[in-house]
Amino acid sequence: MTDEELFTRAIAISAKAHVPYSKFRVGAALTTTDGRMYAGANIENASYPEGWCAETSAIAHMVCDWNGTIDRIAVYSPNLAEITPCGGCRQRIAEFAHPETVILLGDDSGPTRKVTISDLLPFAFSDRALRGETPT
Ligand code: THU
Repeated sequence: MTDEELFTRAIAISAKAHVPYSKFRVGAALTTTDGRMYAGANIENASYPEGWCAETSAIAHMVCDWNGTIDRIAVYSPNLAEITPCGGCRQRIAEFAHPETVILLGDDSGPTRKVTISDLLPFAFSDRALRGETPT
């Protein structure tokens, strides 16, 4: 699957977002290192803090299917060009990433920028920290 095709999946799933409060739709689509694809949208709640992000939905689909390592994740919002994952989602992506995992940013035309999870979350807290090891 090309970056353009993956980004198209993120655009498509953003239509499923449940965003009656913010009206801010987000879609995320990821591929795993073994070639699977999962997508998800943000799902808000009348009890505002109970809502969650599109990236979180996509990761939940991946983990509940067959775990995996994220190779690329495309994030899209019709409300904002080149939306970047929030801090919490950076941490969630990092949990299932490798250092060069790519985050595809873009707009209605498709992907316009590529960054890595290490760019977005340097000195991440990880399982290494739980073992008393310093970040790499
Ligand atoms: N949102 C995401 O889905 N992903 C992000 O990385 C940033 C924010 C959602 C959460 C909420 O439903 C809406 O965007 C506005 O914050």
